[in-house]
Amino acid sequence: MRSPMPYPPAPVIPDMSADLWNSASSVLDVNWSDDHMVPSRRLYPHQWSWDAAFIAIGLAYVNPSRAWRDLRSLFEAQWPDGRVPHIVFDPRTAEGDYFPGPGFWNVPAYNGRAARGSTGLVQPPLHAIAAWEVYRRAAAHGAAAAHEAGDELRWLYPRLVAQQEYLSRRRDAAGEGLASIVHPWESGLDNSPSWDTAMAAVPADMGLLTRYTRRDLEVADASHRPLDIDYARYLGLVLNYRDGGYSDTALVQRHDFVVECPSFNAILAAAELALVHIAEVVGADAEVHRERAQRITAAISKHLWDPATRTFRSRDVRTRMLSPARCVNGLVPLILPDLPDHQAAAIMAEAASERFGLPEATGLPVPSYDRTATDFDTLRYWRGPIWININWLLRRGMLVHGYRGEAEDLRMAMIRLIHRSGHYEYFHPVTGEGIGAPTFSWTAALSLDLLADRSVPAYARAA
Ligand code: GLC
Repeated sequence: MRSPMPYPPAPVIPDMSADLWNSASSVLDVNWSDDHMVPSRRLYPHQWSWDAAFIAIGLAYVNPSRAWRDLRSLFEAQWPDGRVPHIVFDPRTAEGDYFPGPGFWNVPAYNGRAARGSTGLVQPPLHAIAAWEVYRRAAAHGAAAAHEAGDELRWLYPRLVAQQEYLSRRRDAAGEGLASIVHPWESGLDNSPSWDTAMAAVPADMGLLTRYTRRDLEVADASHRPLDIDYARYLGLVLNYRDGGYSDTALVQRHDFVVECPSFNAILAAAELALVHIAEVVGADAEVHRERAQRITAAISKHLWDPATRTFRSRDVRTRMLSPARCVNGLVPLILPDLPDHQAAAIMAEAASERFGLPEATGLPVPSYDRTATDFDTLRYWRGPIWININWLLRRGMLVHGYRGEAEDLRMAMIRLIHRSGHYEYFHPVTGEGIGAPTFSWTAALSLDLLADRSVPAYARAA
C-alpha cells in the first residue's frame, strides 16, 4: 500500500484569517437549532455537553446571546443531583435518527422534563471555563450584552457549583479527591487506548448488537468508528447503570468500569479556577474554589503520575493500576497553574517527543495517541487522529506555564490545518486530511477563538 503523503507546509495565504473566520461563522449558523447547537447535523443531531462549552467559547465572538442560550438549555436539563447530562435530546429528532436515543437511556423524569430526555452520563465539566470566557468577551458587544452576561453568569453560578460538587462528591470512587468516570463516553475521548486495559475486563455481550442497531455505522465510515466488541461493552455499561437507576452509591461494586482520567480531572480543577473569577463577579465565596482547585491538582499530581515514564496516565480504580497507554489525555494537566514545574516540563517533553511531535517536527497539532505505538491508528477516532479541542486545551496549558513560543506554533498549526482541510471533526495525523463530520461545530468555534485571542489565561503562573 502506498504510504500517505506527509502533511505539506502551508503556503502563505494572506486572506487565511478572513476565509477561516467566515467559514467558521457559517458552520455555526447552519448548526444552530432553535435553542442549542448540534455538533453536526447528520452524525450528532442533539446537544452534547462538553461540545456546548467549546462552542460557547467561539460563539461569544459572533453571537453571545446564542452562546448563553446554548449553555442555558444544557443546564435546564441538569439533574437534581447536580449531574449535567452528556447528551440532551431534541424531542423534534426522531428516535431512529440517533442511537442510543432517549428510549434506550430511559432516564427518570425530573423537573417536569420527561418530554425532553437526556442521558445519565456526564462529560468533562468545561462549562465554568466557557461561561467565564463568554462573560469576559461581552463588554466588546456593548452595554446590553454586558448586562445580559451579568444576568446569565448569576443564573449559571449555582448550577456550575452543583455540577462540580456532584463530580467531586458522588464520583470520588477511590476517596482520594479525584472524580471517576463510569463509562468511556464520559471522558469525551470515547475509544481512546487509555481505556483498553480497564475495558478488557468488562463483559462484552455481543447479543446486544443484534437486539440494537448501531446508527453511527449508517452515517460514518466503519473504519473510523469504534469496533463492535467495544460497542457491545459500551451498551452493556449503560444498561447496567440504567438498571441501577443511575445511582452513584457503591460505584466500585456497581460498575465494571471505574477510571480516573487525567484530562477529565484537569478540567474539573480548571473549572474551579474559572469559578474563582465568576464567584468574584456574582459576590460569592471565591476562596473555596481556589482551595478545591489546589486539592484536585495535588491529587492528579500524586495519583495519576507515573514516575517511571514521567507521564500522566488514567488509573483503573478497581485495580489501582495506571494504564500502560500514552494518550493525549496525559498532556492536559498542563492547564493547571499549580502543577509542579517538573511535571509541566515532563508534559512538554512528551509533547515534543516523537510520540506526539509538536508542530516544529511535523507541522501538525498533536495526535490523540502515541505515534510510535504499534496500534497507532490514523483513522479510528481517538486512537490516532488529531482533534482540535484537545490541542486548544494543550495550547492553553502552554500559555499557563509560560511556553509562549510553543503555544504560538501550536496556534498557527491548528489554524493552518483547519484552513487547509476544513472544519472537520478530526484530522488524519500524517496527511492532515479532514475525517469524520465535515462541518463540526467545536472545530469552527475554536477556530474563531484561535484567530481572535492571543491573551494569556487570567490564572496563568506569574512569568
Ligand atoms: C464523539 C466524541 C465526543 C463528542 C461527541 C459529539 O462522541 O468522542 O467527545 O462530545 O462525539 O461531538
